[in-house]
Amino acid sequence: MGTRPAQANQVDDGAGDQAAAHHANEAEGVGAGEPGGATARAEAPHGGPTQDTTATEAICRATGLTKQVNGPEGVLTILDRVDLAVAPGEAVAIVGASGSGKSTLLGLLAGLDRASAGSIRLCGEALEPLDEDGRAALRAGRVGFVFQNFQLIPTLTARENVLLPLELTATVQAGEARRIADAALERVGLDERRGHYPRQLSGGEQQRVAIARAFAPSPAVLFADEPTGNLDEATGGRIIDLLFALREDAGAALILVTHDPALAQRCDRRLGMSGGRLEALG
Ligand SMILES: Nc1ncnc2c1ncn2[C@@H]1O[C@H](COP(=O)(O)OP(=O)(O)O)[C@@H](O)[C@H]1O
Ligand SMILES: [Mg+2]
Repeated sequence: MGTRPAQANQVDDGAGDQAAAHHANEAEGVGAGEPGGATARAEAPHGGPTQDTTATEAICRATGLTKQVNGPEGVLTILDRVDLAVAPGEAVAIVGASGSGKSTLLGLLAGLDRASAGSIRLCGEALEPLDEDGRAALRAGRVGFVFQNFQLIPTLTARENVLLPLELTATVQAGEARRIADAALERVGLDERRGHYPRQLSGGEQQRVAIARAFAPSPAVLFADEPTGNLDEATGGRIIDLLFALREDAGAALILVTHDPALAQRCDRRLGMSGGRLEALG
């Protein structure tokens, strides 16, 4: 990350950022955005022709995105004027060293955290004018999340965890929500476990519930932050196959943070985070 002095409007003390992100995740289990900027040349999803996403409406677009926090040694610049545009249905991998700001970027793009400067459009809407409730309403049914540590609600069963984001989606009726949740659990091979609590499930099973939760509302964008980071290789491989299969079904854009080069290669495009900046990789 960079250490340049603050010149921006707003510097957080950082307190509460993670809590806010966790709260938002528990409430919805999902998140998305819209593209644009220096890295705006994007391939169409699934190997289609190269297209300029500035000419189409990006599903997630960040422009000049900067995040600064107050640290013990003064202002720390975690993200430094990041530009990003992700086309509908596109899969983008973000790689970079631990502490380089990848999770911070995802949290901003999904509207879980506030930038110090710059702008974000998600699913066609600017995030800046929206308060927390407005951002939650924007995410509901349109934005999904999968995290390294699953982040299921421990006091809810698998089915209840998957139902949560559906219940926040105004257009889905109660009976319909249950049908969709059960279909999503069946899709990830856990229909027999829908009454189980997270503690009664293995790590891989918990992540499958989290994937069912993320995809049940048919989101336009899925954010995944090192989704296999807590799983063994074989289990992680199965989780990734599932993630890509469901993404294909949903036609959702995927913004994936990963340390795994093989996984990054499965995406349409790779970006590297370093020194607070985001750059196109080969
Ligand atoms: N709210 C905060 N306050 C202070 N420092 C933070 C805050 N959030 C993140 N950081 C720091 O910013 C850097 C980037 O963090 P993070 O986005 O989690 O990186 P990554 O996901 O790439 O490992 C780290 O050094 C982290 O300690
Ligand atoms: Mg991280």
